[in-house]
Amino acid sequence: MLAVKHLSHRFRNGDEETPVLHDIDFVVDKGEMVALLGSSGSGKSTLLNLMAGLMKPTQGSILISGESIERMSENQLAEFRRTHIGFIFQSYELIPHLTVRENVELPLVFQGMKAKARKDKAVALLTKVGLGEKTEMFPSQLSGGQQQRVSIARSLVTEPAIVFADEPTGNLDTKTEKEIIDLLIELNESLQITFVIVTHELEVARRTRRVIQLRDGFLVEDELWAGEEQ
Ligand SMILES: Nc1ncnc2c1ncn2[C@@H]1O[C@H](COP(=O)(O)OP(=O)(O)OP(=O)(O)O)[C@@H](O)[C@H]1O
Ligand SMILES: [Mg+2]
Repeated sequence: MLAVKHLSHRFRNGDEETPVLHDIDFVVDKGEMVALLGSSGSGKSTLLNLMAGLMKPTQGSILISGESIERMSENQLAEFRRTHIGFIFQSYELIPHLTVRENVELPLVFQGMKAKARKDKAVALLTKVGLGEKTEMFPSQLSGGQQQRVSIARSLVTEPAIVFADEPTGNLDTKTEKEIIDLLIELNESLQITFVIVTHELEVARRTRRVIQLRDGFLVEDELWAGEEQ
């Protein structure tokens, strides 16, 4: 599903180089749910952005469904991302002047799907994430947790091979955080969606079966927790 091979990354600002990731190696199988844990500045977002094809690594490769995404041209990558990769942002990134349903439909508009099929798909997913009654509202009329549910539905609407989330509960209170993690676990179990979730909350990581930990850009731990109570 996802293979990260000898991945290293340095940021260059003028003459100065900042090494951020060092020889990272791991594999994520289909249907896994992985927490990517590490303190602030350890390189979590950089790794996630590289895996999601939002930028190119200095060294190494990233395979998704057998394809090396770092070798793709900008156009190939844009198309691949549209069809294979979902992304959930900490700050939801919904479009304010579109309704909840239209926000979820948007990736399908880019795929050229017909209006009726788009609508049916968006409404079905919004119902699945508990927002069947809110489809015609605007994002500003929803709570933070509800907005994140919209963004989760949007990330799934193209049936991606893998979904990346960068601190999806970072803006939410503890109770809502738990509800969103419950939802992600439910989607992982019922639809076999593969998730990689960045967090620096140990509490979130405790809920996923597998945890990959970064420290100062090095992968220090990759472990399966013994399925503690959920
Ligand atoms: N565009 C950039 N140019 C230069 N350095 C960068 C750039 N983006 C990130 N960095 C540096 O890379 C390191 C890792 O940043 P990254 O955003 O991946 O950390 P993080 O683990 O996601 O942290 P946080 O938990 O605070 O979000 C930091 O030292 C940061 O300053
Ligand atoms: Mg980050």
